[in-house]
Amino acid sequence: MRVRVLGSAAGGGFPQWNCNCPNCDGVRKGTIDAAPRTQSSIAVSSDNINWLLFNASPDILTQFQRLPELQPARAIRDTAVRAIVLMDAQIDHTTGLFMLREGKTPLNIYCTDMVHEDLTRGNPIFNILGHFCGVAWHPIPTATSTSFQVDGIEDIKITAIPLTSKAPPYSPHRHDPHEGDNIGIRLEDTRSGKVLFYAPGLAAIEPHVLTIMHQADCLMVDGTCWSNDEMRTLGISDKLSLDMGHLPQSGPGGMIETLRPLKAARKILIHINNTNPILREDAPERLTLKQENIDVAFDGMDFTL
Ligand code: MLT
Ligand code: MN
Ligand code: ZN
Repeated sequence: MRVRVLGSAAGGGFPQWNCNCPNCDGVRKGTIDAAPRTQSSIAVSSDNINWLLFNASPDILTQFQRLPELQPARAIRDTAVRAIVLMDAQIDHTTGLFMLREGKTPLNIYCTDMVHEDLTRGNPIFNILGHFCGVAWHPIPTATSTSFQVDGIEDIKITAIPLTSKAPPYSPHRHDPHEGDNIGIRLEDTRSGKVLFYAPGLAAIEPHVLTIMHQADCLMVDGTCWSNDEMRTLGISDKLSLDMGHLPQSGPGGMIETLRPLKAARKILIHINNTNPILREDAPERLTLKQENIDVAFDGMDFTL
């Protein structure tokens, strides 16, 4: 299974348009050692011909241009994207769907009932797409024992893992969590038996999630904030990382401690907020991650599992 990071930043991207935190200001001016990043999404393929997208970021058109395989040019209108799996209904994971409205057939979209509800009510993207290409909705089961496959994506078994994170700020049930608001994804290559766990939004490591994380050969998990009060300390917002549904990396019970005992050969942080010090290649926090065998995703990161 080939995994391509289309985008590695959290909502807002890096740099964020209105932000002058040391990272955003520094990357804009070229005074820090850090690469700009688009908003998070990955693409996966088992044959290098047919691709499955996880989330549709507002930066999707730029991301497609950077991965020419997504346009195989077999017909006057064509795409290598067979389907899109949504992990949640957040703006940074769904509004890229608008950019795919020219599709000649309905977009194959896999998401849970809860995400479908948000995308037909609170932020009715699916209804609006109904006036263009339309949406072929495939409900995702949230029972962790139920796996599914996507047509055209052979040899990849997909299992949704319900997670504790947050429904989007616009959602009628933002403060009233429901199973299926957020999922992580377990992907198994049925030829090699290798397992990838992908969870760009992850606030609490519940026992059923930890079980799946123990099985994974590669973990790509929430890298939003280094510390819980990062945005507060910078004077940007009162919001804590955990309030937004993201487990910080540092501190007791944080992501670093969570990942330490796991056997996965690759541990990668993704969905990195522009305030996070790990965006700087030479930051002391990066050295800490290196010592823990944890990588920081970047746009264009590409590997085979
Ligand atoms: C999040 O990951 O918490 C959201 O993307 C925040 C947002 O919508 O800006
Ligand atoms: Mn986000
Ligand atoms: Zn910033």
